[in-house]
Amino acid sequence: MLNSCDLVIFGATGDLAIRKLLPALYRAFEEQSLAEDVRIFLTCRTDKQVENYIQKVEDTLPKFLNQDEFKAPTWSQFKLRLRPVLIDIQESEIGWLDLKDQLDESKDRIFYMSVAPSLYGVCCENLSKNNLINDSSRVVLEKPIGYDKNSANGVNTQVGRFFKESQIFRIDHYLGKETVQNLLILRFTNLLFENMWDRQSIDHIQISISETVGLEGRAGFYDDAGAMRDMVQNHLLQLLCLVAMEPPNQLNGDSIRTEKIKVLEALKPITKDNIRSHTVRGQYVTGEANGELVPGYLEELGNPKSFCETFVAIKAEIENWRWAGTPIYLRTGKRLKSRYAEIIVQFKPVSHSIYSAFGSQSPNRLAIRLQPDETIQLILTSKKLNSTQMELREAALDLNLNDKSHRIHSDAYKRLLIDVIANDPSLFIHREEIDHAWAWVDPIIEGWKEIDYQPELYRAGSWGPDASEELLKKDGRQWFNGVC
Ligand code: BG6
Repeated sequence: MLNSCDLVIFGATGDLAIRKLLPALYRAFEEQSLAEDVRIFLTCRTDKQVENYIQKVEDTLPKFLNQDEFKAPTWSQFKLRLRPVLIDIQESEIGWLDLKDQLDESKDRIFYMSVAPSLYGVCCENLSKNNLINDSSRVVLEKPIGYDKNSANGVNTQVGRFFKESQIFRIDHYLGKETVQNLLILRFTNLLFENMWDRQSIDHIQISISETVGLEGRAGFYDDAGAMRDMVQNHLLQLLCLVAMEPPNQLNGDSIRTEKIKVLEALKPITKDNIRSHTVRGQYVTGEANGELVPGYLEELGNPKSFCETFVAIKAEIENWRWAGTPIYLRTGKRLKSRYAEIIVQFKPVSHSIYSAFGSQSPNRLAIRLQPDETIQLILTSKKLNSTQMELREAALDLNLNDKSHRIHSDAYKRLLIDVIANDPSLFIHREEIDHAWAWVDPIIEGWKEIDYQPELYRAGSWGPDASEELLKKDGRQWFNGVC
């Protein structure tokens, strides 16, 4: 049975709501994963926005769905669920009581904070002042939570005054991606991998999230955050935890979190003393994206003086029994050559090759592709068929998750919204994880400042600064760049 609720999205006219949340809710509605009486309240700041809201969604929704997904009959039903409302988040007088009158006493209430984290506290306070929070209310917090460990603590404490930890759902949409969930299944249901998942068999791991987009109109936020706070502190560290953690005792939020925290605690600190050998910062200059000339970061920003990083590469090391000596290289950047996200697990070579006379033999690797396609491939060495000579070649065992016959439109936000409605916290982030992630990230950002480590420039449409290649080259390795 589907769970019912009243969902309130604060900041409903913003980018996230329009691009991600409404398309996700539309998809959930279309596939009948929303209970019949779920209503979606969308807060706007002016009467005009309220008036135009439904039309605006009708105009924008098709752009953020796949080509065949927007259907007029579905839309005409879906829009009946949408209730734009006027609310001033910072003013307890405007709109709150009207909202209260409209919410159903008997239903769960979900409050989605699609606003700047600095507004989470005041928004929760106004919810409380107007008696909108009940025992079955939940609040969803978007990343980034805070700007560093202290400010994250501040935000979590403010929200914690009004909601219990079990009512707080901190979202990292990477955890809702199909292949990310499949990574855990792959690791913890297949003896084959579990027996080889350590420093004895694995040479190194690469985790890359490469984007072709630039600032996308988010200059104000991005220039303060940079790639480190926007991507590394959350998405990349979450992926690292899932790849490296020990098997949890059970498949529930608490057990998984316990194991993730152990990984974060075991990360070797990077400070000003080892920062040059372990990190690379970059910023893009003019170049190409999708075949078109695009401006550099500073021109896009309209500020020639910014030293914000749009690219980061890091050599992370986990100081524990399983991983000592096996580095995990992290990399993310805007305006890179292609859009893809991938985890590569590079195994070690066999201890003695009897086929060395027939050419070089690449060690096995496991490629877990998160996007644009969702695939898992195990690259093996095999004989080149139909060849009279003995020749070796690489061949992939392929687990393609994009089953063409049942075209699924996997959508991380849809999955996570359905989980919040079902009150299932297993794919959400606990306060302690945020704390530990910042504890590793803060000294890196401070270290960059201390040694005045300016970002190295890279051309838009490239794979980032040369120093990123160097980071691996000096260890005798190289990035795979989406080619397996
Ligand atoms: C967001 C970041 O969390 O993730 C954006 O704030 C980034 O800067 C986005 O573009 C990437 O998400 P995805 O799912 O498109 O890889």
